[in-house]
Amino acid sequence: MRYVVTGAAGFIGSHLGEALAAAGHEVVGVDCFTDYYDPAEKEENARDLDVRRLDLAEQPLDLDGVDGVFHLAGRPGVRSFGDVFPLYLRGNVLSTQRVLEAAAAARVRVVLASSSSIYGEAEAYPTPEDAVPRPISPYGITKLAGEHLARAYAVGFGADAVVLRYFTVYGPRQRPDMFFRRVCEALLARSTFEIYGSGEQSRSFTYVGDAVAATIAAMERAPAGAVYNVGGGEEASMLEAIALLERISGRSLDTRRVDAARGDVARTKADVSRIRDALGWEPRTTLADGLSAMWSWASGRLPAA
Ligand code: UGA
Repeated sequence: MRYVVTGAAGFIGSHLGEALAAAGHEVVGVDCFTDYYDPAEKEENARDLDVRRLDLAEQPLDLDGVDGVFHLAGRPGVRSFGDVFPLYLRGNVLSTQRVLEAAAAARVRVVLASSSSIYGEAEAYPTPEDAVPRPISPYGITKLAGEHLARAYAVGFGADAVVLRYFTVYGPRQRPDMFFRRVCEALLARSTFEIYGSGEQSRSFTYVGDAVAATIAAMERAPAGAVYNVGGGEEASMLEAIALLERISGRSLDTRRVDAARGDVARTKADVSRIRDALGWEPRTTLADGLSAMWSWASGRLPAA
């Protein structure tokens, strides 16, 4: 198959592109290399892929001869209040609308990367997909808008879209603003790590390899219009996760508490029964194994830190 992966130079997108290529597919990567974090790191992520520089909010997406689109490009990060909001609208709403428009016209499936952040403080844990979405971050609101656009294009134009709500994905190449990445770097540099709030907040951390497997299964086997949680099986608080990384690294982390971040939810816990029943997917990587892989990557990348 010939697949387009948007955001192919990003964390999840680059792993997805590599997995698709390894499975024998032709991968056309696109990415606009925004400076949300150092674009040189994105070049490094994408070094084994063919990634074209393209701004989805402005430039046309050519889907001639393409069998499906994995739309992972977006403006990430729940800590998204303030004057960055236009960038979230552009990266997550306008770009998604344009991808859906192109895919509907070309009659190809889109697998859309959404986020656990659309739930906000969820009404139930584990959280099923039909929980009422009540995002508390501007980012989450733009991701939910993307989901609604997918549905509008399905109703209006017969677009074939599948929505995946990823839950805090981690592993090698994790973005530098994310928790585990920062913990690894603080351990390596022996610097002080800032915990936002009490550290008792918890997440259904999801290993990137598991997220990629769910994403490919969704393209290959999901019914049109499906919405799935893609969440790790083990929930952990930030304090528990730090203790685990300290054990793995054999180092101790110096921490400092700072104010809780606006937009951060207290808890995420994915109910994955829908995707398990429909696609036979479930998270396979334990937090200990996933963090060991992440620590090896981080310590190999920053040996001098
Ligand atoms: C992550 C991603 O950043 C979002 O792009 C994604 O959509 C979201 O997961 C999701 O799954 O929906 P988040 O859960 O906030 O968002 O992931 P991290 O950035 O890894 O943060 C995890 C927790 O660590 C948060 O409670 C945060 O407050 C805390 N944290 C993060 C710190 O205490 N200190 C830091 O320096 C960074």
